[in-house]
Amino acid sequence: MSRRKQIYEGKAKILFEGPEPGTIIQYFKDDATAFNNKKKGTITGKGVLNNRISEFLMTRLEEMGIPTHFVRRLNMREQLVREVEIIPLEVVVRNVAAGSFCQRFGLQEGASLPRSIIEYCYKNDELGDPMVSEEHITAFGWADTRDLDDIMALTLRINDYLSGLFLGVGIKLVDFKLEFGRHWNEHDEMRIILADEISPDCCRLWDMKTNEKMDKDRFRRDLGKVEEAYQEVARRLGILPESGPRDLRGPETMQ
Ligand code: TMP
Repeated sequence: MSRRKQIYEGKAKILFEGPEPGTIIQYFKDDATAFNNKKKGTITGKGVLNNRISEFLMTRLEEMGIPTHFVRRLNMREQLVREVEIIPLEVVVRNVAAGSFCQRFGLQEGASLPRSIIEYCYKNDELGDPMVSEEHITAFGWADTRDLDDIMALTLRINDYLSGLFLGVGIKLVDFKLEFGRHWNEHDEMRIILADEISPDCCRLWDMKTNEKMDKDRFRRDLGKVEEAYQEVARRLGILPESGPRDLRGPETMQ
C-alpha cells in the first residue's frame, strides 16, 4: 500500500494511482460513518465484503450493457477501476419509503411508493449533500441535460436489473445511491459510466420475508449484527468464500 501514490482518502475508500495511466486502485476500508461523519466506527471485514459485492454487481451490470468503471478485482480489499471525472451528484433511487424520505414526507418506513423515485443530491460533505433539482445541476454546470438524460436512463436500467437480481436471492432493494463519472476513450469521446461502489454501505436491503435490515442502517441505528448482515448479503449472492477465497458458488435462488 505504501509504495503507491495516494490520490484521495474518503470515508470508506482510499484511491491510489493505478499501474497504467487512466487507471485507479480503489482500496476498501472497514471504516464506517453515518450522518455525515458524525457517527464513526468500524465494521470488521466490511472492506473485503464490499470489494467483492461491488465487483459482483458491477460485473453483472457490465454483462447487461451498463458501462462501469470496474476493470478487475486485484486482491481482498482492492480493485482496479477506470479513472473518471466524477460528476458531483449522489443519484438516489427509492423503491420503498425509508430513511430521510420518510422524515421529509411524513411516511412510515416501508410504505409503498406510486413508482420508483429518483433524487439528486449535490456531493459535498461540508454542506451535508443537499438535495438539488435539474435546475441547480444544469445552472451550476455539474452536468448538462444530455448528461442527465444518460444518467437517468442508466439509473432506471440499473434499478430494474438490481431489483430483480436481489429479489432472486430473497432481498428487497429498498433504495440505493449511485455515482457516475465522465470517461474519455482513446478517440477522446466522452461517455458517462457508473463509478464508485454498489454495496450494503449505499443500499437499503431488506429480507423479503421478514423485512430485517441487511445494510448500513444496522450500524446507523445501532441494531447490532452489522458484520453478519453484510456477510449474509454476500452469502446469498453466492460470493462469500466458505472454505477459502477460491470457493465461489453461484447465486442461491430463493423460492
Ligand atoms: P437517505 O434515506 O439517508 O437519504 O439514503 C438514501 C440511500 O442513499 C440509502 O440507500 C443510503 C444511501 N446513502 C449513501 O450511500 N450515502 C449517503 O451519504 C447517504 C445520505 C445515503
